[in-house]
Formats: sequence, structure tokens, C-alpha cells
Amino acid sequence: MNAGLIGIGKYVPPHILTNADLEKRMDTSDEWIRTMTGIQERRIADDSIDSSHMAYNAAADAIKDAGIKPEEIGLILVATVTPDQPFPSVSAMIQDQLGAKNAAAMDISAACSGYMYGIVTAKQFVESGTYDYVLVVGVEKLSKITDWEDRNTAVLFGDGAGAAVIGKVSEGRGVLSFELGADGSGGKYLYQDEKLIMNGREVFKFAVRQMGQSAINVIEKAGLTKEDVDFLIPHQANIRIMESARQRLDLPVEKMSKTVHKYGNTSSASIPISLFDDVAEGKVKDDDVIVLVGFGGGLTWGALCIKWGR
Ligand code: ACO
Repeated sequence: MNAGLIGIGKYVPPHILTNADLEKRMDTSDEWIRTMTGIQERRIADDSIDSSHMAYNAAADAIKDAGIKPEEIGLILVATVTPDQPFPSVSAMIQDQLGAKNAAAMDISAACSGYMYGIVTAKQFVESGTYDYVLVVGVEKLSKITDWEDRNTAVLFGDGAGAAVIGKVSEGRGVLSFELGADGSGGKYLYQDEKLIMNGREVFKFAVRQMGQSAINVIEKAGLTKEDVDFLIPHQANIRIMESARQRLDLPVEKMSKTVHKYGNTSSASIPISLFDDVAEGKVKDDDVIVLVGFGGGLTWGALCIKWGR
């Protein structure tokens, strides 16, 4: 019996910050940002919208989509590096707001790979029979730790949330294989010291190396080959990094998710937001083999091979 994603949800704040808006605030250009990252605009949460607000909205939609009651959830995992405050956790806050009164709750800190860590943890609890349903949310309000004076990082990030309910799915579907990893020696390349600090070159090299390899690893672990993959959902950090993963799998452009142009890098929310849009647009269909792969601060990485459908 495999665990799989039985309901999904998404929330992005309404305010759009375009490259043209950034040109007015700092020494950058729409041309540079598009060419170097693929980003055209991103969503920014105002002061009235914190991570718990975005997480709640995405989670409520995922629960509705799954057709279950909040009381049936056994565990809530929220992947975030931008919680409202260190504690109570975002997961505990939304446990109350959702009325998920039988759920345990904890946050996961694995930066952009956090959602992958969440899904893999949820899978263990569902497949062991411990919980029927686990709610996993990836949410970030990166705008509050962005250094708006630093053009090297300020143009890259956006805010948002994506969620999934993990439960039992029918024979042959669900999470077929996974890989999680970390290399703490690379922590110095991407960290928070009040504001976000990044060595873009080093993160870029790591990401190009790791994304393609992790994708290949989960395909092999699932007993499949590159030819079996219908769709790739890479972490939406930079179109050039995403392209390198796509080329490693020999997939045509239309078989790779691309939302980086409209949301920027939303860290742990980027893969679930993309998955939501891809399903809504019919790019991911029942029984498709999809590969999700992410990397982030830590350094961390994670990949999943899933046969889509309930
Ligand atoms: N506008 C205009 N010029 C800029 C900007 C900007 N916004 N930012 C940097 N530049 C300039 C630099 O000053 C530099 O100029 P110089 O040659 O005169 O010194 C030039 O552009 C090249 O800068 P580099 O930083 O060397 O460019 P690079 O090719 O490395 O691209 C980028 C930068 C896009 C950030 C790239 O390194 C990258 O995408 N790295 C990965 C980042 C990433 O994925 N981070 C997310 C990790 S996930 C997480 O956990 C949050």
C-alpha cells in the first residue's frame, strides 16, 4: 500500500511586484532578471498576511479537495523558514484555525527542500498505519527576511503557500520512491543573519549538480527509466537550474513545470504551488509518472517519484 497526495491546495498573496517595480527601487533591470533567472514578477504579502494566514488558506483548500474533515487529520507538518514567530509553530496555529483537534503539529526547517521532507515524513506515518491522514504545507514569507538593499538576492524571492493531504491511494499509485539528503558543510552559502545571505554562484553549482542526480536516483529507485517520466516539477529557483535538470532527463520543455516567471522563488512553497497549477491546467493527469525535485539552504535536497492519482 502506497501513500499519496489525495488533496492539494494553494495560496498566493494578491500583491504583484514586477521587475519594472524593482527597477525603480534598485540598480537592476528587467532584462538582467529575466535572462539570469527567468523571473518576471512575484507575489509579496503585506503586513496583514503572515505565514500562518497563507498556510491556513492553502491547507483549507487541500482538506476540501481531499473530501475529509479536519478532525480526521492525525498530524500537521508545516515546512517553513519564515514562521510568524519561533513558537508557537505555524503548524500549531493552523491546527487551531482549521479545527484539526486530533492532530499533532510541528514545523520542519529544511529551507526550499522542506516540502519534500514533509511529504516523506507523512508517507512513513500513513504507510505504517499510524495516521489515516497527514497534512503537509510548504509556506514562506521570504519578503520579511529579504534584504531589499541587496540586488543579488532581492530580485529572486516571492511569498506563497502550497498544501497536500497525504493518505492511502489505490494500488500502483502514490509515492513510488524518494531521496532526502543534506550537506551541512554548505550551510555558509545560504543562511539567515537577520536577513537572507547567499553566495549565488556556489548555490547554483550545487543545485545544477544535485537536482539532476536526485531526479535520476528516484527514477531508478522506483524501478523506472527516464522514458517512463511524464512530467518534471523542479524547485522554481532559477530557470537555468531547472533547464539543467530537464536536459538531464531528456524531457521536452512542455514536460517541465514552469511557474518561476510569475511567482519567483517561494522556497518550500514552490513545488506544491507548481504542482497545484499543473494539475489545474491538466498538465498532470491520473497515472502520470511525475518527478518532484528540490534543493535549498542547509544545504539540503529531496526528490520524489509519484504515480499521480488517488
Ligand atoms: N541586477 C543587475 N545586475 C546584477 C543583479 C541584479 N539584480 N544581481 C547581480 N548582478 C550583477 C553582479 O553584480 C555581477 O556584476 P559584476 O560582474 O559587475 O560583478 C553580475 O551581475 C554577475 O553576478 P553573479 O552573482 O556572478 O551572477 P550569476 O551568474 O551567479 O547569477 C544568480 C546570479 C541568478 C543569483 C545565480 O547565481 C543563481 O541563480 N544562483 C542560485 C540561487 C538560488 O537558487 N538560490 C535559492 C536557493 S533556495 C533557498 O533555500 C532560499
